[in-house]
Amino acid sequence: MDDIINKMTLAEKVILLDAADFWHTKAINRLGIDKITVSDGPHGLRKEKIENDKTITVKATCFPAAATNACSWDIDLIGRMGAAIAQEAAKEDVDIILGPAINIKRSPLCGRNFEYFSEDPYLAGKLASAYIKGVQNQGVGTSLKHFAANNQESYRAITSSEIDERTLHEIYLRPFEIAVKEAAPWTVMCSYNKINGIYASENKYLLTDVLRNFWGFNGAVISDWGAVSNRVKGITAGLDIEFPTSNGFNSNKIMQALISGQITPYEIDVCIRNILNLFYKVKNTQKTTYYNEEENHQLSREIAQNSIVLLKNEDKILPIDKNQKLLIIGALAKYPRFQGGGSSKINPNRIVSIINGLDNCKANYEYLDGYDINSDIIDFHMINAAVQAAKIHKNVLVFIGLTDAFESEAYDRTHMKMPESHYALIEELLKVNPNIIVAIVGGSPIELDVILKAKAIIYQYLTGQAGDAVLDIIWGNVNPSGKLAETIPFKLEHNPSYNNFTTDNNSVHYKETLFVGYRYYDTFEQSVAFAFGHGLSYTDFSLNLIDLKYNEASQKINVKLKLTNIGSRAGAEVIQLYVGKNDSAVIRPKKELKAFKKVFLKAGKSQEVEAEIDVKSLSYYNTVEKKWTLEGGNYEIYIGNSSQNIIIQKEINIKGDYSILPKYIPPKKPVLNDEEFSLLLNRPLIPKSKKHIRPFNLDSTINAMSITLIGKIVKKKIKKQYKQHLNNQMPDNERFVQSIFELPLRMLSMLSDGVLTMPKMLAIIDIANKKFFRGIWRYLHSNKIKRNLL
Ligand code: BGC
Repeated sequence: MDDIINKMTLAEKVILLDAADFWHTKAINRLGIDKITVSDGPHGLRKEKIENDKTITVKATCFPAAATNACSWDIDLIGRMGAAIAQEAAKEDVDIILGPAINIKRSPLCGRNFEYFSEDPYLAGKLASAYIKGVQNQGVGTSLKHFAANNQESYRAITSSEIDERTLHEIYLRPFEIAVKEAAPWTVMCSYNKINGIYASENKYLLTDVLRNFWGFNGAVISDWGAVSNRVKGITAGLDIEFPTSNGFNSNKIMQALISGQITPYEIDVCIRNILNLFYKVKNTQKTTYYNEEENHQLSREIAQNSIVLLKNEDKILPIDKNQKLLIIGALAKYPRFQGGGSSKINPNRIVSIINGLDNCKANYEYLDGYDINSDIIDFHMINAAVQAAKIHKNVLVFIGLTDAFESEAYDRTHMKMPESHYALIEELLKVNPNIIVAIVGGSPIELDVILKAKAIIYQYLTGQAGDAVLDIIWGNVNPSGKLAETIPFKLEHNPSYNNFTTDNNSVHYKETLFVGYRYYDTFEQSVAFAFGHGLSYTDFSLNLIDLKYNEASQKINVKLKLTNIGSRAGAEVIQLYVGKNDSAVIRPKKELKAFKKVFLKAGKSQEVEAEIDVKSLSYYNTVEKKWTLEGGNYEIYIGNSSQNIIIQKEINIKGDYSILPKYIPPKKPVLNDEEFSLLLNRPLIPKSKKHIRPFNLDSTINAMSITLIGKIVKKKIKKQYKQHLNNQMPDNERFVQSIFELPLRMLSMLSDGVLTMPKMLAIIDIANKKFFRGIWRYLHSNKIKRNLL
């Protein structure tokens, strides 16, 4: 390594800090340093390729999205999915998969929740570790993203996530900590947003102090696509590679900073070592390139079968005998929504809809649309047809949910509802047939309202390309075993982030602190539609405690349980172990998930199940000593099959220390007010909204600049260009276009793939700032500016 570093010129080093293009790092042929190829993730391979001058996405297996596969609570299954994705990636010469994505689901509204695992850091961290190990064991690297606190899409590239230090560590950083320590991802991708006022891409506290020094990460840090605001600060902070390329713009800035002494060659070398380490890892790891398309399709189906959640099953109306006739209502059965929009959108090598599935089995069924898939306007004609049919059918299955326009990367939902036409359909159907079975499609919870009255409710999320998996649940070929990885509240207003999940452009205040998801609902005894961890089966289980011991030497709580399948069908149960400390000296949620185990049992069989809780994981983040502190004393252990269905409860005494407590302990209440939150942060709050006025700079948005004539012209042009170059990844809707106008100008330039270069953008900014002559001069010379240092 030293040898190669010594051979490198400073210019070569600077070059390596910038990617070559969207999907490759730079190569230095003279030194035998090859490019590294990266591709999205996370729930399948999304590799772009140029074919006949057009960008296409290669075909790949579309596995169930993270929101779905998380409900499997199945470490082995997620590992197998990782391995399959890696093999497909390797076959396409991809070295690193951009995933898993593990941001916490703070609000059901985040447009990208479908790509994330859970509201719980432990579950998200464990599943991410399984995914990373699965991929990396096949010789392909991962990029754990988006580090950190990127919990909303609105203004994601400029807003600041305002979070107190303890909450940051215990909730938002915790899944990353688990995954980094357990699975050592080859790379970590920093997020777009600021954290407490500092961009993730230049946040030394996160990228170096926490990630490397505290957690021992030894891979490379890459930026999210266009997340770099100040590249020079990024180097000092620990950002190794910028994606996609800035076309020399930032390389020149780095050179200038080196000349002026703002940064040192040593700091550059720190990044270069990380990049070279990554290069050697890629080079020296043997990849498995063999895979079987059919097997991967079946794996996708198996994951869906094990993830689909049965929320309600009154009178055991499900499963339905396969020979009985079904009335299928709902266009989502015919035009399946099986994945989300944006950078994770896979080009599936096949798509099996529910209707295809029925046809493939020659099932006896009748189908009616019920609503227009492309509109949320109630179509009474369609509803009436469905109602007439539902009157005379016994088995009525209705598919409803969120259509593409409702959720996507780049923008958030503004409410928690489905299209009105879907509610109206259910409401009318329930009037004529009380035995309705509803299957809900979507990447996030919806307000269930009238749906709660249905006899059975299946939450199938986004099941990937094998959309017929839900039929196996309906017919009972597979016994459901999916458990919610997030809470479904009755109403959006019940969510603790409700007043602070923001579409403001400057900052978002995480005033609910630690009380995210079930941590809030359970602590403050709020009833919810369906609790975290909930999911029914067609069989019943009994759970008994055999032994629960605290082993001081190994720092483990060892739990021995007996699980019995007391029903008449084989099935799997997820045993969930939560821990709380009622008399804690610090504020804590009532209970937090600390271990889980999925166990499959044949009918009538019993099994002894051993689970282990790592005592260290009971620690709280001590903001005075800047470390995890294990508080001594009594802890409550709750064991059950959802956060609210606790079957066994035990108290245990743990030895620990009683360190210095933080000066300010916030009052135990669901959501802090401004004053309390400011005291907790120990600084004044950054205002939620800011009017971005002249002078504009590269961090300004088109929206802000559109008060000027040139801003208006650019906005119009971008909209036109977007429509013209619309590809498979991006949704064709106004919300998405609007989200582009929320991006900083630097990011727009980078994502324009050379059309709107940084010098051109600077010229436009000059004109908007009324520096007309410099702007015009810059514009005319923008093509002549040396793009590359080599
Ligand atoms: C997304 C990342 C993704 C990258 C490359 C970004 O906009 O936030 O998750 O990996 O694009 O497509």
